[in-house]
Amino acid sequence: MLLGPPGAGKGTQAKSFSSAVGVVHISTGDILREEVKVNSALGTEAKGYMDRGALVPDELVTKMLSLRLQREDVKKGFLLDGYPRNIAQAGTLDGILKGIRANIDIVFYLDASEPVIIQRLTGRLVCSKCGANFHIKNMPPKVDMLCDNCGSKLYQRSDDNVDTIKTRLKVYLKETTSLIEYYQKKGILTRINADGDADVVLREMISLAEKIHDPHKV
Ligand code: AP5
Repeated sequence: MLLGPPGAGKGTQAKSFSSAVGVVHISTGDILREEVKVNSALGTEAKGYMDRGALVPDELVTKMLSLRLQREDVKKGFLLDGYPRNIAQAGTLDGILKGIRANIDIVFYLDASEPVIIQRLTGRLVCSKCGANFHIKNMPPKVDMLCDNCGSKLYQRSDDNVDTIKTRLKVYLKETTSLIEYYQKKGILTRINADGDADVVLREMISLAEKIHDPHKV
């Protein structure tokens, strides 16, 4: 599981980590944005919350996640990104995981500072087709506003403006930070300094995951 403030690099790391380790990346934010894109009933209801930086009501997100975790590809392992966001969702997740006889091996808490977060989110560019992340300065695409992977157009997320970012940070502090203690108590949380280079963060995540599956590895 990935935990951390908006802009810590959860989506960026999740994409690299899941393809390196061979697990499926499940992002509630990505699923919600897909619903918004196709104008589904869920997407229409969720959009208002997302655009102002609030959490989408638990029952909507939880139903969506529960369905996603029933799919076959989850059996080879999965990386959860964006869920849970509060203690109620964490309790619900424990129940869902029990039902599918799965458990969380490790929680990567990607910790980033506010100036870094604001700089990253105000410059983020996302591929409209494959969802790859870029950044105007930190990780610019090779061709202006086009995705390196699939050549599709890049766009700026509607919630990546300074006002909404500040609301998202407040919501994170109020609702989500209590999960740090929740998973610390379970003994599965590891803090990673996410202010630094993306490759360094990824290497640390992979090495921690390898140690869990092979405790003799140093
Ligand atoms: P969600 O999509 O989950 O957004 P978030 O948590 O705000 O996180 P972000 O996607 O903004 O940041 P990230 O950590 O993934 O950063 P990234 O890797 O892109 O949720 C969006 C909304 O959906 C919520 O506000 C809510 O409304 C709703 N929602 C979702 N889940 C929900 C739930 N469970 N319950 C209720 N509501 C829910 O990186 C950011 C930028 O930085 C990129 O440009 C990247 O290129 C760059 N970057 C990344 N790492 C580095 C690095 N190490 N060095 C330099 N640049 C970097």
